[in-house]
Amino acid sequence: MVFDSKIRPITWEDGMSKMLDQTIIPYEYKYVYISKGQEMFDAIRNMIVRGAPAIGIAGAQGVVLYAQEGRGKYNSFEKYKQWLLEKADYMATSRPTAVNLMWACNEQKEIIKNSNSDIDSLIKELTDKAIEIEKDDIERCIKIGEFGSEVVPKGATILTHCNAGALATGGYGTALGVVRSAYAKDNTIQVFADETRPRQQGARLTTFELAMDGIPVTLITDGMCSYFMNKGMIDMVVVGADRIAANGDAANKIGTYTVAIAAKYHNIPFYVAAPLSTIDTSIASGKEIPIEERSHEEVTHINGKRICAEGINIINPGFDVTPHELIAGIITEKGILRPDYNKSIAEAFKG
Ligand code: MRU
Repeated sequence: MVFDSKIRPITWEDGMSKMLDQTIIPYEYKYVYISKGQEMFDAIRNMIVRGAPAIGIAGAQGVVLYAQEGRGKYNSFEKYKQWLLEKADYMATSRPTAVNLMWACNEQKEIIKNSNSDIDSLIKELTDKAIEIEKDDIERCIKIGEFGSEVVPKGATILTHCNAGALATGGYGTALGVVRSAYAKDNTIQVFADETRPRQQGARLTTFELAMDGIPVTLITDGMCSYFMNKGMIDMVVVGADRIAANGDAANKIGTYTVAIAAKYHNIPFYVAAPLSTIDTSIASGKEIPIEERSHEEVTHINGKRICAEGINIINPGFDVTPHELIAGIITEKGILRPDYNKSIAEAFKG
């Protein structure tokens, strides 16, 4: 059984991208339409759309928007293709950490490179691919949810960090996909959601989408997780990922690593839920994952109001890397991968 969320954060409609503006949730629930490649680049960078799988879909759509804009600009198909390949590379740089973005732009690049027909047919192929990536992502999330629900104990309290839900994917979610599938089988489970400073994806987005679905959720601030673990109130942790290296090291929202250390200390299983498109087998370990550095204002201000002294130093990495030793399993659409991750990841890509 599937306990689906009705949230579809990014879809393709009438030659445009239709996306939920995630910067204003929970105050407003509003869709925006994106019709130009540069607008899509900015929407990804400014986190109107966010979450690794969702920005993968956005990247694929962004390439289609550029393809549409380039119509009539070049008198040779080869020159048009060359220009479009450069735009796909540019789109892939809109955020650095989530590999789904590069993966999706590369899927589009392969179509461009292999095309020897005409502009209209190429645009159709790229559009079909963007739609397929979106639909496929929902399918993958549902499978992740099914596999993950098997390791959720009866009546469990699941801690999550950031938002790896319907809002962060084509729909349904990875970590929250596990929650949704588990809840469909056992409606006595509940979620503890870390606030997730500085952007508050846990407070603003995770609580929003779980409350919308009637799944019990308790909001805690980031520093509280060890307290509740120590009290025996957390049974397992499930988070998403932005990029997983070949050895299982997993980058996710800043603060995830702290949660993983606390979980290890308290003997609580810590799972990462992610589609295979989040695994970057080209890198051996998490040391090679580029970590996004975001604006200082995200730290110094809350809702436009300064919360600290002027003139102080600020550092704002958007992600951290949880070492594979702290991860009990990586829940994918192909099943739950277990240590030794070098082996289990390689196997998952073969089958
Ligand atoms: O900066 P964000 O909000 O894009 O970061 C999102 C996360 O870290 C998610 O946990 C991750 O992308 C997985 S989403 C299924």
